[in-house]
Amino acid sequence: MTAQAALRSDHADLLRQARLEAYSTPIEDFHPGAPRLFQSDTIWPWFERLRKEAPVHYCTKAPIEPYWSVTRYHDIMHVDTNHAIFSSDVSNGGIMIRDVPPGYEWPSFIAMDEPRHGEQRKTVSPMFTPDHLDEMAVLIRQRSAKVLDSLPRNETFNWVEKVSIELTTQMLATLFDFPFEQRRRLTRWSDVSTALPKSGIVSSEDERRRELADCAETFGRMWKERQANPGRDLISMMAHSEATRHMTPDNLMGNLILLIVGGNDTTRNTMTASVLALNENPAEYQKLRDNPALIDTMVPEVIRWQTPLAHMRRTALVDTELGGQKIRKGDRVVMWYVSGNRDEEVIETPDAFIIDRKRPRIHLSFGFGIHRCVGMRLAELQLRIVWQEILKRFDRIEVVGEPKRVYSSFVRGYESLPVRIPG
Ligand code: HEM
Repeated sequence: MTAQAALRSDHADLLRQARLEAYSTPIEDFHPGAPRLFQSDTIWPWFERLRKEAPVHYCTKAPIEPYWSVTRYHDIMHVDTNHAIFSSDVSNGGIMIRDVPPGYEWPSFIAMDEPRHGEQRKTVSPMFTPDHLDEMAVLIRQRSAKVLDSLPRNETFNWVEKVSIELTTQMLATLFDFPFEQRRRLTRWSDVSTALPKSGIVSSEDERRRELADCAETFGRMWKERQANPGRDLISMMAHSEATRHMTPDNLMGNLILLIVGGNDTTRNTMTASVLALNENPAEYQKLRDNPALIDTMVPEVIRWQTPLAHMRRTALVDTELGGQKIRKGDRVVMWYVSGNRDEEVIETPDAFIIDRKRPRIHLSFGFGIHRCVGMRLAELQLRIVWQEILKRFDRIEVVGEPKRVYSSFVRGYESLPVRIPG
């Protein structure tokens, strides 16, 4: 048996057990937000049963506050596009399944309602226009080529570390015009800001605060520099726009964390997922080698298959109804994009990874409505370029061991993926 086949069969065993558990647990006891289910990648049968039997489900038996789970594609779309009913605002708890801790001091525009959200979003959106992305493409290609050329042959290495983190961090450094040689500090801040207490990334809340205070101080200094000498980076854009130039330092810090996490974890984990998905589906990998033009449809397909942000959460501003359930003002409503992306009523054979799907852009991974991902075109561009450069160089990238997944029900990602490039 090849290494890949052995891995597939181990994971199939795990999934079989998970299915038994999911179908023998009373549905009122379901807690699909349990991070362990994401870390072991056994969440699928739980969501499958919810979509069929309780598509709008209230969880009261978790070690976290009660929350609604919305698991079908169209119901998710309804919540995401009705921002007057469903709030993102930090003052109502924010956008993650758990409320932001009391006294959380870094509001960002993803966790704001109108009109503040729209004003601040407008400030950074020129970074992501098609013209500006065309300009950036040249640099992205050069950097991708350099990183890929430096990879070892016939030797096992961690794809996450050497490629996914490296390329997305380089991109971030460019977006902020951050000192290039210190770019790994951005990666660390991104990891620290989303780490759960049990994830092992930081050992205490104090340590997290210390590290993020360092982030705030570093960017505070850069803000002052760019106020005097603006460039074409995100910090300069915010320092000189009417909507954001008078932001409090805490609001600045919130927006920075948003842009760091938004631009980092998500694209990074999709880059890793693409290698994993192609290895788990060798016939698809062969199709891609035979026809590199399929990169254009493969990229949205990987983004759907991976769903790098598993959920966004809203809070009901008024009593309302969804899927026959009565939602009360103040209730937490979790939109499980990861489940909507496997909704068999909207997407044909949704569990399959098919790089030439007819309509690969039918997915929820970037959200919908006023908060729809502002960096989505950049993410797709990066992924397209890296695969164009990979196919020019390597016949195959082989996954040779288990991926290690992140302990989180928010970021769906990988800590490591051991690979080998024969050569
Ligand atoms: C595959 C990669 C990516 C995925 C899957 C992703 C996913 C998402 C999702 C689900 C949302 C929230 C949508 C909603 O609430 O309706 C979002 C918002 C956002 N994303 Fe992304 N993202 C990605 C890449 C990026 C990149 C590269 C950047 C920037 C460099 C970025 C910056 C943002 C920002 C600033 C927001 C907040 C938008 C707002 O509140 O108006 N994202 N993203």
